[in-house]
Amino acid sequence: MSNGGVNFDVPAGRLDGIISSSTEATASLPNPTSDIATLIANFGAKGFTAEELVILTGAHAIGKGHCSSFTDRLTAPSSEINANYRDNVLNKTCAAGASTTVANNIRDIDAATLGNLTSYVIPAVGGDYLDNSFYTNNKNNLVLFHSDWALVNNSATLKSVDEYAKNGTLWNIDFAQALVKLSKLAMPAGSVCQIRKKTCRAIN
Ligand code: HEM
Repeated sequence: MSNGGVNFDVPAGRLDGIISSSTEATASLPNPTSDIATLIANFGAKGFTAEELVILTGAHAIGKGHCSSFTDRLTAPSSEINANYRDNVLNKTCAAGASTTVANNIRDIDAATLGNLTSYVIPAVGGDYLDNSFYTNNKNNLVLFHSDWALVNNSATLKSVDEYAKNGTLWNIDFAQALVKLSKLAMPAGSVCQIRKKTCRAIN
């Protein structure tokens, strides 16, 4: 997924739950409309620093979002989002309905839809993959969620955004570390859990 850039050993022995609940996941994850104070508090409550918040959100260099996840961005002021991106990419695509999806990374949007925004695309050598392009996209106000943009609207987190925009190798290393830390988050008290024996994504 990262073309070999992000590379780490996955620690074995993690306790995994035996049921998967989207309601529970939504309840503990921050909302994409969150402001920076809420994001820092939410990650802080799980033992992550503001810098790690910036590092992990770089995962939005891949994947996609449903229009229903960023309706606030369709009318956000041009100080918070590139107006051409808002009007000619997001609003046009989302006119098809709330369940339509848009790629998180402008790189993964087709050139016809992007129009002259293609000049902002940071090509991934060898195809679409996880890299540090999220940070430059963010500085250009070309990111999907308000929670993404919030990272450039705070001097401390902006410093990290600048650092990772410049240094993709550092981001690869720091992202791998932060992701391993994320994978070690303790299960909520009282959870029924197990160490997977054969297939990681299926209960024993
Ligand atoms: C900072 C807090 C975060 C917020 C508010 C947030 C919010 C979201 C939302 C709303 C979506 C789109 C869901 C949809 O409409 O289908 C999304 C997609 C995604 N997020 Fe995040 N996210 C956050 C942090 C993270 C982190 C820490 C990671 C991984 C380390 C991550 C990885 C992804 C990926 C890979 C996708 C694309 C999923 C797909 O293509 O189906 N996000 N995120």
